[in-house]
Amino acid sequence: MFAWSLGLLCSIGLSQAVYVRRQAATITWDGRVPENATLGDFDSNSFVFRPDSPKGQNLSLSQLVVFPGGNPSLFDQKVAAKSIEVTISDKSIFAPGGSNPQSAIRRAELQPNVAQTANNITTTGIKTIHFSIKPDPQRALNLSHEYLMTFLERADFTGDQIMLKTGTLIGRNDTSPNDLVLLGNSGNGSTTLFTTPFTADAFTNFAIKMDFTANTVQVFSSTGSEALTQQTEPLPNDLSGNGDLHFGLFKNPTDPGEDSLRSGFQESEINEGVVYAGIFVEDSGDGAISLS
Ligand SMILES: *[C@@H]1O[C@H](CO)[C@@H](O)[C@H](O)[C@H]1NC(C)=O
Ligand SMILES: *[C@@H]1O[C@H](CO)[C@@H](O)[C@H](O)[C@H]1NC(C)=O
Ligand SMILES: *[C@@H]1O[C@H](CO)[C@@H](O)[C@H](O)[C@H]1NC(C)=O
Ligand SMILES: *[C@@H]1O[C@H](CO)[C@@H](O)[C@H](O)[C@H]1NC(C)=O
Ligand SMILES: *[C@@H]1O[C@H](CO)[C@@H](O)[C@H](O)[C@H]1NC(C)=O
Ligand SMILES: *[C@@H]1O[C@H](CO)[C@@H](O)[C@H](O)[C@H]1NC(C)=O
Repeated sequence: MFAWSLGLLCSIGLSQAVYVRRQAATITWDGRVPENATLGDFDSNSFVFRPDSPKGQNLSLSQLVVFPGGNPSLFDQKVAAKSIEVTISDKSIFAPGGSNPQSAIRRAELQPNVAQTANNITTTGIKTIHFSIKPDPQRALNLSHEYLMTFLERADFTGDQIMLKTGTLIGRNDTSPNDLVLLGNSGNGSTTLFTTPFTADAFTNFAIKMDFTANTVQVFSSTGSEALTQQTEPLPNDLSGNGDLHFGLFKNPTDPGEDSLRSGFQESEINEGVVYAGIFVEDSGDGAISLS
């Protein structure tokens, strides 16, 4: 009760439309990587991420994940978790089910372990996806390309409900290559839900609240160790179709043809990466969101 009132006062002070309880909201799936985790853990069936997510054919996650070190992110700190980097190379060509390689794309993605997210638990009710993201100057992205980094893909693979992109977005000229752009449903004329600079010197922290019944998305964000603040109202966006979350890099070609998975241009000898931290999904069914 005491904690609740404090949170309420706090939220009035910040004129936010949410209250923040001092105790943590219930975590539905926790993808924060313990300090003592090894790269080998990423190849295990019992780790927080599944070992068989989209990535180069015959590559294991332990070959493409890196522990970049550095200060822990906002939400990693209190649970002794560490940052992880997802990297792509010329070998990052995904062949779903072992055939028909997506030769024009370079992919390396982490996904919640199915064993830990059965029954569509991350895509029902009201859930908030948390993650922090930072570029790695040592493995810089080529911003002439479009990168899809965090997305929710429908279970039937016919589209994405939300997509965080950076670089030169294909088919539009209303975004800057240096921005993080959160788009709504994929397809022609995706709605831009939120845009913020992809700053190099600190994590950008996101909390994306998704109401799978009302079909709305609301964005909270901050940089570095600042508490997250509300950035948007709940915005209409079709969240039906369940599916899986992806965290990583999906690098599109330039000049994509009709089949953008298999035609278009990719330069060779790439060594690119993006740093993630503090990945988890919490239940916001009672209105609670962790902002700090
Ligand atoms: C890491 O530390 C935790 C807590 O001390 C422990 O439960 C876990 O088994 C350790 N994991 C590894 C891979 O050593
Ligand atoms: C992956 O391994 C299979 C089976 O050995 C092989 O046929 C295929 O060519 C390999 N793919 C790549 C990209 O090395
Ligand atoms: C999860 O969602 C998919 C797609 O909507 C659906 O086909 C499947 O039955 C759901 N699974 C459960 C256990 O609800
Ligand atoms: C970046 O991508 C463009 C388009 O594919 C390519 O022409 C250019 O050489 C790339 N730059 C680097 C540094 O790889
Ligand atoms: C790009 O901008 C021009 C002028 O503002 C506009 O007419 C055109 O439709 C835009 N193209 C795309 C693909 O958004
Ligand atoms: C997008 O619009 C183009 C041009 O109007 C059309 O040819 C294409 O089929 C549309 N794609 C989708 C996925 O709706």
